[in-house]
Parts: sequence; structure tokens; C-alpha cells
Amino acid sequence: MAAPLVPRVTGLCYGGDYNPEQWPESTWAQDAALMREAGVTLVTVGVFAWAWLEPAPGRYEFGWLDRVLDTLHEAGIAVDLATATASPPPWFSHAHPESLPVDSAGRRLWYGSRQAFCPSSPAYRDAALRLVERLARRYRDHPALALWHVHNEYGCHNAACYCEVSAAAFRDWLRARYRDLDTLNEVWGTAFWSQRYTDWAQILPPRDTPTFRNPGQVLDFRRFCSDALLALFTAERDLLHELCPGVPVTTNLMTGQFTELDYWAWARELDVVANDHYLIGADAREPGAQIAFAADLARSLAGGPWLLMEHSTGAVNWQPRNLAKAPGQLVRDSLAHVARGSDGAMFFQWRASRAGAEKWHSAMLPHTGPDSRIFREVVALGGHLRRLGEIAGSGVDSDVAILLDYPSGWAQETPAQPSVDLDCFDEIRRWHAALWRAGITADLAHPGADLSRYRAVLAPALYAVDDATVANLTGYVGRGGTLVIGPFSGVVDEHDRVRLGGYPGAFTDLLGVRIEEFCPLPEGVTVQLTDGSIGHTWTERGGAPRAEVVARYADGPAAHAPAVTRRGDAWYVGTRLDDPSLARLLGGVLAAAGVAPPVAGLPAGIEAVRRRHADGRTYLFLLNHTDADAEVAGDGAGVLAGTDLLTGTAFAGVVPVPAGGVVVLAEEAA
Ligand code: GAL
Repeated sequence: MAAPLVPRVTGLCYGGDYNPEQWPESTWAQDAALMREAGVTLVTVGVFAWAWLEPAPGRYEFGWLDRVLDTLHEAGIAVDLATATASPPPWFSHAHPESLPVDSAGRRLWYGSRQAFCPSSPAYRDAALRLVERLARRYRDHPALALWHVHNEYGCHNAACYCEVSAAAFRDWLRARYRDLDTLNEVWGTAFWSQRYTDWAQILPPRDTPTFRNPGQVLDFRRFCSDALLALFTAERDLLHELCPGVPVTTNLMTGQFTELDYWAWARELDVVANDHYLIGADAREPGAQIAFAADLARSLAGGPWLLMEHSTGAVNWQPRNLAKAPGQLVRDSLAHVARGSDGAMFFQWRASRAGAEKWHSAMLPHTGPDSRIFREVVALGGHLRRLGEIAGSGVDSDVAILLDYPSGWAQETPAQPSVDLDCFDEIRRWHAALWRAGITADLAHPGADLSRYRAVLAPALYAVDDATVANLTGYVGRGGTLVIGPFSGVVDEHDRVRLGGYPGAFTDLLGVRIEEFCPLPEGVTVQLTDGSIGHTWTERGGAPRAEVVARYADGPAAHAPAVTRRGDAWYVGTRLDDPSLARLLGGVLAAAGVAPPVAGLPAGIEAVRRRHADGRTYLFLLNHTDADAEVAGDGAGVLAGTDLLTGTAFAGVVPVPAGGVVVLAEEAA
């Protein structure tokens, strides 16, 4: 039996952010009673409570939090205790105006919202650590304490600060990385535009300039920003480990859309990988695909089970139009995360706020109160999660990995690229969505990771690579792996310097192609390929001296040049294929590599994901994303057999999945 992700919670975690400081104490007992009714097992307390915990410098008030934790404990609810450092109180910022963040135009950003601090501010760091120490000493033996929740969504609003303090910290970071100025000048390519530095003091964060900034400087600054925030996290974590050994420490990541931090480096430092996910209403992509991507990335970062720390029961408040969830979607979305490895489902937040910027955000307990559809669904979800308890600790089957490297994406995001349409992170999500539609569960992987367990690896957009990555991918193909590389990959090194001798620089040998010229397409223009595929955004002129040409451009600026090639099992796609063409290509390549969905012939709109315990027990999640009842049949070998853990119904052969509903089949051993 795998150890529980949060040792004090057996089964799956269920709950959300609980902000009792926003409510009179008389509501707390009712909160605990309703949490019990809903089957809540874990709540996150105190995320934004700094001003209540330390109302004046050095004056701490813990009495109210004692009573909250005692009340929860009496109700049998465990606590994910926040360190409350995400929002310094006004007294702090007022006393330390130099700790406020500054944007790239030199504008200071004021307090009155949250995360209003410079990540390199010593005053902020000291004050935060003083509070953490007090909290750890006071609550380390509290029986409700199950998990430490450091800060909240690092970098959500203050990922980069350009103040003088940050400038000095950036210089220290650069000195540690490059040792001498000659090396820095070399890797930043400062021979260009007379940018040569002759003294460390001359180096600044990439503040607003008359025109394009040095790309190497911008890239290193983004690395520095990720590291600066990570250092704040590890400082809090180390203190908690020291004062409170045995209680795991987490912070909540945002894998869906947020790309400001290098989460591979962050994940290594977390005891528990926790993730927040909110659907983007304006995004045309299917909600199920959005969830699948965020969840697959969270699981891949964790290397196993992880925890969905926040999502919403209904609408959020921060998009231009905040869409409500359909009845039943709250349950399906939660279980979609559980299907992909979350050992629980948590929400922002327990009780909907009465005031403040998030008063229109949905919650587990809406403004209407418990006599509401949302609360009834919350209670139903609690029952489902209780019945799914035996799933905790299991992994997720996946034979294919999609490569994602944050610094490579950051390098590609610098301006003055051949085309503004050649985004990186969106393209990774688009390939992932193509697999999701085909019923194939993918991991995400760092390009330097051990890839040997995957039958196939996809690199939709891997612009910047170091030599070790090239060796890793070459070795992977050499040992029999299948690799598909998308356009404009491998063209620069880790400092954003062009790899010479033909594109795609780092991969010309591996792929057997030699591209001479990029031919981006005007907006909305497509090209035809000789195999009937459609390309858009990007084409290339060049040859395939040591590769088989699978398809050529039939028209457009690169007409007759190779568009899709393969050298053995190393595939290159030199254009952005449209969704149907991409699905066709990947479908063929993955099938040949032996990658198959968990259930063959899935009806459209049905998602199937399998979780598997180390001892061989498996659980097949079937999620219906359509408005119509569906039936899922085995592949003829009678594979589908087991009991739906949500209803207790046994099935063999054909499994009905109601419209918008979910079945979780505890499968019979084959
Ligand atoms: C998250 C944040 C929560 C809350 C929520 C609203 O980004 O962690 O505190 O603001 O969004 O959707």
C-alpha cells in the first residue's frame, strides 16, 4: 500500500481554502458541521491571514486560529496550514516602501491587493520567515496539522521585479553563473549593438528600452526570477522541516496556463506537488482537454500522485465573462483531475466571500447557503471521493511523453522572432489536446529526463536546447524510441544563440534534414501538403539528405521542399499541421510505436484514463463530456469488466456512461 500523499488523511483529500477570518466567529461551528455533511477531510486555513496573525510588527495573535484549528479537529477535519506570507499587511508595506515591486517601466506597484512585494526584498523575506517560525512553533504539535501550505501561487502577480534591489540580486545571480564578465558578454552576444559590459555595476534587469532588449539578458532574467521566488519557498520550507519534521510541505503551482516559473526545478523541492486549475472560458479548446493538460503536467512534475489544491465549483471572477459550470460538471471536472493522478479534489474556496475582489467567485458554500444546487453537488462529490478512497496512491498509465522546457519557451517568447504566430506553450497544449481527443494519456517531460519508459516522445516546440538534451534525445532514438519533432526546434542553444550549419541546428543529424530558410506564412494562410495534409503559420525551404520524405509542400513559398520527414523513428514536421492533419500524423506514428488508448474505439467525447496500483489493481475512469448518454464497449476481447465504485454496479462488456457523467470501474484482474 503506497503511503498517503498527506499522511494524516486516509483515502482522497476533499475540501478547499477556508478563510474564517472573513466571518464572525459564530459561523465557524456551522462551517464545521456543513463540512462534515459534505465529507470534507482537509481544509487550507490562513492563506491570506497575515494581517490577522500579526496585526502589528512583532505582535502575534494566534488565539483565533487556535479556536479554528480546534473546531476543525473536533469535526475530524485535517488542516493544510498556510504560512500566510502571500500578502504582507499594509503596516509592513507602509513601513517598507522599498519592498514594493517595480515594473519594467520603473513604476512602483502599491499595496491594497496581494503579493505586493519584491521577491528579492530582504525586509519581506525576514518578516515572512519570522511569521513562519512563530506559526511552526505554535502549531507543530496540533493534531489537526496535516500539511504546510507555503505562500500561495508564487509569482502569480509578482513574478518579475525590476527595482534596484532586484538589480543587485540579478547581478549576484549572474556572477555565480558566469564568474567573469567576458563569459557573460560572450553568451549574451553583446558584440551586437554595442552592448558590451565592462563592469558588473552596469548590468540591469531588462527594463523598458527604446527597442528590442538583449535576448540573452531577458532569458537569464526570467531564470533569475524563477530562482528568486524558489529561494523564498525553500527558505520557508527549510524552516518548517527544521521546526516541524514529519509534516510535508507544499505550495500550489498553476500548471494550466502559467509559464513564468520553471516548475521542473520547483517540483524537486516540494514534498507534495499541489496544483490549482481554472477553466479559461474564452478558450475554444474543450474544457476536458484543458483539465487533462494541467493534470498531466502536475502528475509529471510529481512523478506520481499529486493534489488538486484549488479549482472552482462554478464561475470564477477574474475573466471578462465568467462562465457558470453546467449541473454535474463540478463532479465531472473534479474526477477528471482524480483520473489523472490527483489524490483528492480541493476548491477555492469553502464559503463564498461577502466582500472583496472575489465576492463573485463561486465556492463550495455559495452566498445562497446550503439549500442550493452547488452545495448539493458538493455533498455528492464528497460521497464519490469517499467511495474512491482505495484509488489513493495509484499511478496513471502513459506510454507517451510530450517535452516541455520552460526556459526554451521563454527564449522563444522574446520579440523579433521570424513569426509572432509561432507560440511555444500553446503549441505544446495543442499537441496534447490532439492526443486527448484520441484517448491517449500523455505525460509531460523535461527534455533532459530519462525517457526510456516511453514508447514515443513528442517535441512540438523545443526552440532552445543544450548539448546534453541533444545527446539525450539522440540516445533515446538510438535505443529504439520514436521521436516526433515540430518546427523551429533545436535552432538555438541554451543562451539563445543560433546553432550554425543549417536548421534545425541541434537536430540536423538526428533527423537527416538540412533546412536553409524559414518561410513563415501570412496570418490565416494555409499550404497544402502532398499527402493531403494542411499546414499553417510556418514553412521551410531545405532538403532531406538523409531522411525519407513523407510529404512535401504542394504549394506556398516552400513548394516542393520536404514538409514531413522521417529518419528511422525520428520524425520531423516542418510546418504547423492543422488539427485534423496533426491527429492523422500522430495517430499513425503512435500506433506504429505501440501506443494505444486504454479502450479501443472510444465514442467521441468520452475520456478514458486508467490508474494502476503497484500491486496491479486498476481503475478505469470513463468521463462523458457530451450531452448524450453513451456506451463504452471493450475491444472485443471482453476487457471491460468490473464494478463502478461510484454506484456499486457491476458491468461486463458494455459500460453505459450517462450524459455528463462519470463511471470509475474497479477492473477485474485479467
Ligand atoms: C487562485 C488563488 C486563490 C483565488 C483563486 C480565484 O489563483 O490562489 O486565492 O484567488 O485563484 O480563482
